[in-house]
Amino acid sequence: MHTNAVIIVKSPREIEQLKKSNTIVAEVIQELSKRVAPGVMTRELDQVAEEIILSKGAFPAFKGYRNYPATLCVSINEEVVHGIPGPRTLREGDIVSIDVGVNLRGYFGDAAITFPVGEIDQGAKGLLEATEKALHIGIGMARVGNRLHDISHAIQKWVESNGFSVVRDFVGHGIGRNLHEEPQIPNFGSPGQGPRLEKGMVFALEPMVNEGSYEVKILSDGWTVVTTDGKRSAHFEHTIAITDGEAEILSTF
Ligand code: MF3
Ligand code: CO
Repeated sequence: MHTNAVIIVKSPREIEQLKKSNTIVAEVIQELSKRVAPGVMTRELDQVAEEIILSKGAFPAFKGYRNYPATLCVSINEEVVHGIPGPRTLREGDIVSIDVGVNLRGYFGDAAITFPVGEIDQGAKGLLEATEKALHIGIGMARVGNRLHDISHAIQKWVESNGFSVVRDFVGHGIGRNLHEEPQIPNFGSPGQGPRLEKGMVFALEPMVNEGSYEVKILSDGWTVVTTDGKRSAHFEHTIAITDGEAEILSTF
């Protein structure tokens, strides 16, 4: 099990490097926010993201990771995460989750956001708002003195009190000189459990929230995760650092 594995505590200098990497992530998201619109091909977004990342002297962190073929993950409607960009075009009323990973000089950044495409219905608006708020509730619990699953529990409680469900099969993670480090950070759990949080830990918190059941499956492309009931899903992610006070969001946009 992962529970005894070491959580790497980062020095202030390393956190500065992680902030630089995450700033590029944030810039990519900022640029994509202007480009998400009906008629846009998901692979066009991927190309824009890759150009920005390379122009900063950084590299896409997902491309080649376990043979993942693209810079972004672009997941539409019932797609939860890990959608592969391609010729599909965005349509009015869709929700689209975009996940960006960057490697700058060996330090990783990771963040995600779900955008509305044009006008979306009330149900989708509620889902996006609840998921973004879930991330910020989790960040609020990420403080010295708390335990890891205090974050998990707070996210789950908020999401379920809004009538939505949290995905079980994919979780947040530590991040640093690797895209994925210990600990795994579930978006569900019991308060008072898990390791104690310490200053200098860096986490990617990433609630994935479903309109219907939390059950998901992977499509035959080997990557795209979809809800089994076909209902929609949203995903917000930030990389954060534990400090003496409130957690610092390294991927602010
Ligand atoms: N943010 C996701 C994660 O942390 C994206 C990974 S996509 C992959 O797992 F291609 F790199 F696997
Ligand atoms: Co992540």
